[in-house]
Amino acid sequence: MQYNFDEIIDRRGTDALKIDAIPGIWGREDLLPLWVADMDFATPPFIIDELRRRLDHEILGYTMRTPRWASSIVAWQQSRYGWTIQPEWLNFVPGIVPGIAFVISCFTAPGDAILIQPPVYHPYIHVPQNLGRVLRENALDLVDGQYEIDFERFERDVRGCKLFLLCHPHNPGGRVWTADELRRMAEICHREGVIVVSDEIHADLTLPPYHHVPFASVSAEAAECSITLMSPSKAFNMAGLTSSYSIISNEALREKFHLHLEHSELNLGHVFAFNSVAAAYSHGTEWLDQMLAYVQGNIDYVEQFLTAELPQIGMIRPQASYLVFLDCRRLGLSVKALSELFVDKARLALNDGAMFGKEGAGFMRLNVASPRSVIVEAMRRLKAAVSSL
Ligand SMILES: Cc1ncc(COP(=O)(O)O)c(C=O)c1O
Repeated sequence: MQYNFDEIIDRRGTDALKIDAIPGIWGREDLLPLWVADMDFATPPFIIDELRRRLDHEILGYTMRTPRWASSIVAWQQSRYGWTIQPEWLNFVPGIVPGIAFVISCFTAPGDAILIQPPVYHPYIHVPQNLGRVLRENALDLVDGQYEIDFERFERDVRGCKLFLLCHPHNPGGRVWTADELRRMAEICHREGVIVVSDEIHADLTLPPYHHVPFASVSAEAAECSITLMSPSKAFNMAGLTSSYSIISNEALREKFHLHLEHSELNLGHVFAFNSVAAAYSHGTEWLDQMLAYVQGNIDYVEQFLTAELPQIGMIRPQASYLVFLDCRRLGLSVKALSELFVDKARLALNDGAMFGKEGAGFMRLNVASPRSVIVEAMRRLKAAVSSL
């Protein structure tokens, strides 16, 4: 079946964060919404059909986790990543960020140090701080247009930390960490007694020719020292269902975390939590491949446009996901002036790179998971705004 990603779907009035929060934040309604990381493509029909089938029954009572939920995850990890996992390694978490907060509460105490790699997805900065933990930073290096880890510095920075929040693939940089890089991180963290939380929410959005390798799959050390968090929410545009899961092969870590979840009933799920995941993973391959090809086309378009029409702005070409980190540093604008350029002149709502840490200053994060015509219009507006400087 051929899916249509060109269709413009009006999301106004659906309480969509990406659209309906714009007036409250920017005080105007005429901005193209290219910020929050969800997609303007229809959630695939095989997921909607599954939810509709459930709604055909008129009682929305407490819902059990099903064997189909676990077996669909096990099969997906095997077929997509060659990673053999066991159903008992899984647990439900109501979203990746809540999952990160639960891991922090379970395995660390206030005052403990947690390592992050800025510029990075902003809840990695705020959640540990909100919970009274101390942030340690291992800033990434931008080398030849891609983020890299300085492993000597990493080894120093991680020492004494209780947890390391690994963003894999990386947001906003779009880096797909290689098996070799993951093995080096695992070797160091295992030696230093640091638990690695590998957030793999963007894994299914890895763009050919890159391949996602689950952190826990690269070595015995990695399996032993890690907690993986995953969800079909990004790749299948179902973030509003807040249905994610943890995978833990180490028995001691797993027992401790599962007890933590169970004590406060954090892992109950909800009426759509399990059937939506099973539907995505059971029927998703064809849709996902077509969607990724479309997104790749949007990324190509932006890259070609910037090169030909707007060479003052560069971009980090994502190896995964639909988030393009635009490098606007050559414009020589302050963070405030850059934001004004995008909002007041270009009428675009993007994420300011500075929200991902000071290393992101001068960058803007563009979400290209929209119909091509929207991306074309965004580039037209951006060129006109920069020309007016
Ligand atoms: C790296 C990363 N982790 C987690 C999330 C959010 O996950 P959730 O909505 O399941 O909390 C996002 C959303 O953009 C993300 O980019």
